[in-house]
Amino acid sequence: LKLGIMASGNGSNFEAVAQAIAKGQINAQIQVLIYNNPSAQAPIRAANRGVEAVLLNHRDYNSREAFDEKIVHTLRQYDVELVIMAGWMRLVTPVLIDAFPDKIINIHPSLLPSFKGVNAVEQALAAGVKITGCTVHLVCLEVDSGSILIQAAVPVLPNDTPETLHARIQLQEHQILPQAIALAAQR
Ligand code: GRF
Repeated sequence: LKLGIMASGNGSNFEAVAQAIAKGQINAQIQVLIYNNPSAQAPIRAANRGVEAVLLNHRDYNSREAFDEKIVHTLRQYDVELVIMAGWMRLVTPVLIDAFPDKIINIHPSLLPSFKGVNAVEQALAAGVKITGCTVHLVCLEVDSGSILIQAAVPVLPNDTPETLHARIQLQEHQILPQAIALAAQR
């Protein structure tokens, strides 16, 4: 299965997927990393893994649709079959979603449908839940709302800060994102 990964930040989930492929746990290849933020760490990880990274800066486009058109063009250029949003911090439009029907997945740091949107970890702390987690789901137009593929639960501990809780959630993200891709690659 040919993968395209989209990331805006640190890229630890990119790393987890690359590692699972290297270990033979996923029957797939990462064709390209697309990143939108010039200071993202993800492209450094890509370089270390020998994966091509393409910077598409949303600030260079007049509309979300024009930006998504460029993304679709790039994904097609690299022959991508499954698109993975791993910390992609931009809203997407039908231009992207309709180009890859049911072939775009996202990782979100909460047990959806709780705590959609940004600051999901802070939202969980503010709500006082004792269990939160992470979700891999299909991407649809409504943010963080597509069909759920895999979830993992994570305890909230008494002295958690957003940072300590997010770190604990990320350990689980790094398990379930590769698992979801492995399942997709078996089909
Ligand atoms: C993850 O927590 C993911 O759930 C959220 O953004 C974060 C990305 O982390 N959508 P990383 O860049 O993969 O380290």
